[in-house]
Amino acid sequence: MTTVFITGSTDGIGRRTAELLRARGCDVIVHGRDPAKVDAVRSDVGAVAGLVADLGDLHQVEQLADQAAELQPDVLINNAGVYARERIDMPSGEANWVVNHLAASLLTDALIPEMKPGGRVVYVSSIAHGRAQLDLDDPEFERRPYDHYAAYAQSKLANLLMARETARRLGPVADVTVNALHPGVVGTKLLTEGFQVPGRDDLDAGSATSVYLTLDADGTTGQYFVRSKPASPQGLGRDDALAAALYDQTLAAIEERTAQ
Ligand SMILES: NC(=O)c1ccc[n+]([C@@H]2O[C@H](COP(=O)([O-])OP(=O)(O)OC[C@H]3O[C@@H](n4cnc5c(N)ncnc54)[C@H](OP(=O)(O)O)[C@@H]3O)[C@@H](O)[C@H]2O)c1
Repeated sequence: MTTVFITGSTDGIGRRTAELLRARGCDVIVHGRDPAKVDAVRSDVGAVAGLVADLGDLHQVEQLADQAAELQPDVLINNAGVYARERIDMPSGEANWVVNHLAASLLTDALIPEMKPGGRVVYVSSIAHGRAQLDLDDPEFERRPYDHYAAYAQSKLANLLMARETARRLGPVADVTVNALHPGVVGTKLLTEGFQVPGRDDLDAGSATSVYLTLDADGTTGQYFVRSKPASPQGLGRDDALAAALYDQTLAAIEERTAQ
């Protein structure tokens, strides 16, 4: 039995991914920030556990990692995400950077050492990474004017680069694979309220690559997938020096902010 921990599974692509993986016989651990939504989805999906944490607070993310580790997931799907049209400062920093990037990186760093051979980490990134810039001197828009698209796209580029660099550091024959994906363009609240555009793909199509990387992919690691196939990262998504610098800065930021 494969146990899969899916962040942000109270809505949208994460919730549908949980349903599809349950239907394929997995034990699923659902997660969200709202206890009532987590309870409801846990019971609707038939999940083995429902974990609650606001990913904007890295102290809560640390506790979430501990709770998840006790349940011994074989797969972590870093799916939770936010698109903040206005700047939102969460307890641990700017919303796009903390929820989409730092929280996912913390969970990955904490859970990989706990995984059995065959473990998998999946980052739900986005095609938006392709036009993103990554400003390591000001990733949270403290000195430059806040730009909602740039902030979101930067966090999704960070997802892809963290997957690539984590896989590179683990090595080509590691026990745990780490990949990133673009799910499609799906009419969830992130798209309709955040981007303010309609979707093109349904929830099943938007969840298919997460399901593929959880159950069907071979030992491929460090790759970017679109429609369940390896694809070429765009723009800075191929910059290995940037990925290495991001990785080091990210783990240092997590350590500093969880120590406070
Ligand atoms: N939709 C698209 O077309 C598209 C395209 C490319 C990439 N993506 C990526 O796909 C992933 C899923 O997005 P979606 O479209 O399914 O969006 P969604 O329907 O808005 O779902 C987002 C999930 O993340 C959770 N979440 C948001 N902020 C959180 C926080 N601070 N703490 C804990 N949980 C939080 C939400 O919880 P609540 O239920 O409480 O809101 C929800 O469960 C994201 O990483 C997104 O960047 C989506």
